[in-house]
Amino acid sequence: MKDKRIVILTGAGVSAESGLGTFRDKDGLWTKYDLNDVATPEGFARNPEFVHNFYNQRRQNLVDATPNAAHHALGRLESEFPGDVLVVTQNIDRLHEMGGSKNVLHMHGEMLKSRCDFCQHVIHWEGDLNLAMRCEQCGTAGAMRPHVVWFGEMPFYMDDIQHALDLCDLFLSIGTSGNVYPAAGFVAQVRHRGTAHTVELNLEPSEGSALFHDSVLGPATEVVPSYVDDLLANGW
Ligand code: APR
Repeated sequence: MKDKRIVILTGAGVSAESGLGTFRDKDGLWTKYDLNDVATPEGFARNPEFVHNFYNQRRQNLVDATPNAAHHALGRLESEFPGDVLVVTQNIDRLHEMGGSKNVLHMHGEMLKSRCDFCQHVIHWEGDLNLAMRCEQCGTAGAMRPHVVWFGEMPFYMDDIQHALDLCDLFLSIGTSGNVYPAAGFVAQVRHRGTAHTVELNLEPSEGSALFHDSVLGPATEVVPSYVDDLLANGW
């Protein structure tokens, strides 16, 4: 197992039991908001105050959120597994890092960072954002936006992610519905190569469930710790 590589894709389901909502479950975020209004560049251009308020509320929920047993299990996997472990998360919270994972790529950005739309300067920011804010680097007012990837924008770290997917021996998908590309296409990319094992751990079968060798259904705080224990003891 020493030279083996594990890539773990996570989605909102891994943070659900930490009290952070998902998007497409029955009471998910997209049942309350039109994503075109709050998660697209066009929505921000149309009504920046509305979008700032939307993220200000989510940021305040996120600041006090704590990692759950699934985050801690993945942190333990990274520290105890003799090979490489990379978490590629669609989540914009910091719960993987708080759960002990160090090797984390936030492909959809991070809620506790803000970026100047003018000069692209990025800052750590836990407070509210508003149009009066000036960029500390270029001084432009009204240009600070959440450092998150909106629909129609390119996710971050895609070259690193593609490389990791091409080399991995095990691909896990945890807590994601498999609705949003490019993340939803990762399992097909890994299967096409034909040498890696693929496992989905989710509350219910995702859109891409049939593409996985194995599927472990249940709440992340139950199925992820037990899967990690078994993997560390017996491999896959
Ligand atoms: N344990 C495990 N899985 C869970 C749990 C739980 N406690 N609760 C929900 N799930 C599963 C749901 O069954 C669903 O398959 O998590 C998944 C959540 O799916 P979505 O709400 O679609 O979230 P996600 O897949 O992360 O969305 C991807 O879409 O809107 C964009 O940018 C947003 O990153 C997000 C992307």
